[in-house]
Amino acid sequence: MGNRTLAILKPDCIRKNLAGEVIAKIQGAGFKVLAMKMVKLNKDSAGGFYEIHKKRPFFNDLLEFMTSGPCMPIALEKENAVSDFRKLIGATNPANADEGTIRKLYADGIEQNIVHGSDSDENANIEISHFFSRKELLEINGF
Ligand code: CMP
Repeated sequence: MGNRTLAILKPDCIRKNLAGEVIAKIQGAGFKVLAMKMVKLNKDSAGGFYEIHKKRPFFNDLLEFMTSGPCMPIALEKENAVSDFRKLIGATNPANADEGTIRKLYADGIEQNIVHGSDSDENANIEISHFFSRKELLEINGF
């Protein structure tokens, strides 16, 4: 399953009414939307998702931000999905992101950086299952 990645349009993206624009960029770059929903995360769910960052100094702020409004998890498919998606969104800190990347274009800072993208194939599968059950993926897209 090296062909899938999990994107999240974060609460800043939704608040700024940029969801449509960002999804258009993602689809324009050749990604197929396998499944998508709007959710309001709670601390448990956001904390579970970002478990690997638990010890980081920014963890509590990150949970505050990720639970501050609705966000949109999106399961995506493309060849080399993980690395191509990371190229499309740019560096975590928009100040370091390449011109034309989604974070360079729309993000305000290292925390409120518009969009999440999985960092490995292994995590992509774990992250997709955080938001979408196998049954759901099967029902929506036949696999
Ligand atoms: P994301 O790619 O979703 O993975 C972890 C998130 O933590 C990251 O995007 C940012 O939103 C946030 N983050 C990472 N590093 C920092 C940092 N140094 N300060 C504040 N937030 C950070």
